Amino acid sequence: MRTSRKILHGLAVVATCIVLAVSCKKESTPPTVTPQDTTYKLTPYEIVMPAHFPEMYIPEDNKPYVERIELGRMLYYDNILSNDGRACASCHFQSHGFTIPGMVNDMPVLSHVNLAWHGKFMWDGSKSGTLEDVMLFETQEFFATNLEKINSSEKYRKLFKQYFGVDYITHHEIAYALAQFTRTMISKDSKYDRYMKGAERLTYNEEMGMRIFFSEKGDCFHCHTAMITTDGQMHNTGLDSVYTKEMDKGYYNVTKNTSDLGKFRTPNLRNVALRKFYMHDGRFTTLEEVVEFYNSGVNRVSNIDPIMTKEGKENGLNLNAVEKQQLVAFLKTLTDETFITDTSFSKPSF
Ligand code: HEC
Ligand code: HEC
Repeated sequence: MRTSRKILHGLAVVATCIVLAVSCKKESTPPTVTPQDTTYKLTPYEIVMPAHFPEMYIPEDNKPYVERIELGRMLYYDNILSNDGRACASCHFQSHGFTIPGMVNDMPVLSHVNLAWHGKFMWDGSKSGTLEDVMLFETQEFFATNLEKINSSEKYRKLFKQYFGVDYITHHEIAYALAQFTRTMISKDSKYDRYMKGAERLTYNEEMGMRIFFSEKGDCFHCHTAMITTDGQMHNTGLDSVYTKEMDKGYYNVTKNTSDLGKFRTPNLRNVALRKFYMHDGRFTTLEEVVEFYNSGVNRVSNIDPIMTKEGKENGLNLNAVEKQQLVAFLKTLTDETFITDTSFSKPSF
């Protein structure tokens, strides 16, 4: 369903671009909504980021406010947005780092963590732009939110009037509110973060695993960059030698360039140990299997990322059994208990 909607959305954008001859990017950019539109006094919210994190992009026209974040959170947990009884939280569970221990349409659900640093979204990178842009897709295309329904809710009409200054709620305000909430979903207190701040030690094995991860030995850090654990870019890691399933073609399905075959957006690794299925089609079910793939299973396809076939990697990473366990032990230090139990991300009382 998600895929077919995506394709339809793609066609609609192409059609709009041809008919109106306008830039595609413009088409999906919501109009400016500023607090000046309303007489209601909003409370500015400061997003506190750890010093060891890269700068976060926040659009000028959607600066964080306590009230808008709270509204986004209400929407996230409310099935009013969908037409089939589901809420965002039906597939994105906080206890699992905002993913689920299952698959949807043969795809693992991507987590919601540190999304504000992303510019490309979805496994195949089919959505790009800001959080506002991807949230617009979620309400307008994926959920196809019934605006009549949400506008018939007195509660929401009142809140949107106060916080966004609108008499009639559109997909744009919904997207902006969802973006406000998801922008605050920052994981910054895993064991690894505490180690980085000097507040906690890693075990010997975890530390050895970290060294493999962040050195030429494992080379993981080139794509799973420090702290955010993803570079947000599209890569072919040599998972497949032939692309039997349509979905295995990845970014190619978006660009139609053969050089993009098998490319996927690097997933973040925070709370990775809480996931049950790994890779875009969930082909692996343990971190040990993932590590073994990087160690010995990489297919040397023509457009593989050069990192995967660097000199010295002719026969894979050559990690021994202990080193593989150490790498897994390090991946587990990326679990953030504070994040998955933080009540400011949990279901609000409506
Ligand atoms: C039926 C289950 C389901 C529901 C309900 C759902 N999602 Fe998702 N979500 C997914 C799946 C599956 C993916 C991965 C899809 C893909 O890559 O094509 C995903 C991916 C995403 C992503 C991309 C994350 C990334 O790292 O690129 C965002 C953002 C997102 N969802 C937001 C939402 C929001 C907001 C809602 C509610 C409006 C929502 N989702 C409801 C299943 C769901
Ligand atoms: C060239 C970039 C690149 C390098 C280097 C790399 N990865 Fe990945 N990683 C990716 C991409 C892209 C995916 C998703 C591939 C897919 O779904 O088909 C991924 C997926 C994963 C996943 C699965 C995450 C999930 O939620 O499904 C784990 C775990 C992982 N990588 C760990 C590692 C480790 C450990 C290393 C080092 C041994 C490493 N990666 C090196 C790009 C890279």
